[in-house]
Amino acid sequence: MEVFRIRGGVPLHGAAAVAGSKNAALPILAATILARGPLTLRNVPRLTDVAALVELLEQLGVAVDADRDGAGRCLRVRTIDPLPSFSHHEPARRIRATFCTLGPLLARRGHAVVPLPGGCRIGRRPVDLHLKGLAALGAEIRIEQGHVIARAKRLIGARVSLAGPSGPTVTGTANVLAAATLARGRTTLLDAAREPEIVDLGRFLIAMGARIEGLGTSTLHIAGVEQLAGCDYCVTADRIEAATLLVAAMITRGSINLTNVVPEHLAAVLELLAEAGARIDLGPDWLRLIAPQVVRPIRVLARPYPGLPTDVQPQLTALAALADGDSNIRDEVFPQRFAHLRELARLGADVRGGAGEAAVRGVRRLHGARVAATDLRGGAALVLAALAAEGTTTVRRIDHLDRGYERFERKLRGLGARIERLAEVPAVGGVQWPVSAPQPEAVAARNA
Ligand code: EPU
Repeated sequence: MEVFRIRGGVPLHGAAAVAGSKNAALPILAATILARGPLTLRNVPRLTDVAALVELLEQLGVAVDADRDGAGRCLRVRTIDPLPSFSHHEPARRIRATFCTLGPLLARRGHAVVPLPGGCRIGRRPVDLHLKGLAALGAEIRIEQGHVIARAKRLIGARVSLAGPSGPTVTGTANVLAAATLARGRTTLLDAAREPEIVDLGRFLIAMGARIEGLGTSTLHIAGVEQLAGCDYCVTADRIEAATLLVAAMITRGSINLTNVVPEHLAAVLELLAEAGARIDLGPDWLRLIAPQVVRPIRVLARPYPGLPTDVQPQLTALAALADGDSNIRDEVFPQRFAHLRELARLGADVRGGAGEAAVRGVRRLHGARVAATDLRGGAALVLAALAAEGTTTVRRIDHLDRGYERFERKLRGLGARIERLAEVPAVGGVQWPVSAPQPEAVAARNA
């Protein structure tokens, strides 16, 4: 296990290039199962979630080779025939996104066995809408011993709504959309997710030969085709990483220039940061933010796109902790996503609530402490708070952060942050302390 040691209080300044999007790359990688020819995927972020999905694809008979291009990692992918239809290996249990292989496997092979993804620190994460959508396309689905077993000789186009109690489902839309590309006839997906990651998946499927209309709206029309071919595709920029870096500049009262970003995807975040006092300039693929000395309190309402993303709610909660007044935070997508409140409190934040809502009273300063990441974005919130806190903070369980941020500490160091990745020594007498210097082998491996 590794930890971050952060010495806070330094305003971040400088430039950073945003990585490829995790939540676009994962369903796109899963959808490579559909292709009959070789594929090249560019701008794929180097993340442990991506590595786990690649491992799973390899076990499924998809050959994946990595090489680097200027813009990030480039993966060359080739499916073999016949593809095994199962995806019940170890990596599938580790990350939820492997559930995105369900639709593609079913469409391509007519049979899939995928473990039900378990619960998660950010709340209830059912998959009923995924199953409803695939069943509407004619799949026979049953659940046995924690696995979804789905069969369909050939899926058949249908009209189906993907609306859930808190809006559309993102990966559910990905699963049903990918499956419908090879169904016989036309499919209409109502109440589909409009997230940029779904638009990116749709564009990728179109590049493979799929016929899809309505991307970016809540109604998708798909005309099924007989087969999909290989293609060369560049994954869109990660709007959540971009937002996290903007908040890092904001919370430390610094300034940042981001490149390789799609500002349009960040409209709701930029509006909120501007209301909090940021000066923002933007171009077609860049953004500049200059933080104010005094951050105004904020009202966060996390909703499906084009609303404010739930994946930025914890980071904005950290920002609110140092705002000049009382802020209110609500998350309608994952009302249970507040595990980070307790850890923020250890750093001196005045935060209350948790059931869908939090009240944050801004304090003048946070102070360093030992905290643990509770989940990916909750972990990001702790790192941001630590960057602004006085003194030294140790953040444990940074494996959560490696799932979704490519070399986070390096990017932050490039902006002037004092952050190191250290090995955590095993517990002695119940206490774990980081060793005082980076472990050369671990660091070399990480930097490779
Ligand atoms: N829901 C249902 N039934 C379903 C599926 C979802 O009721 O069958 C509900 C959920 O309980 C939740 C809401 O619908 O309240 C939205 O869940 P959704 O299915 O959209 O979430 P997801 O697809 O599992 C993706 C991202 C998450 C992100 C959410 C919301 C990926 C791999 N994951 O999850 O990303 O928070 O959409 O935008 O794309 C992250 O990156 O940190 C992360 C958690």
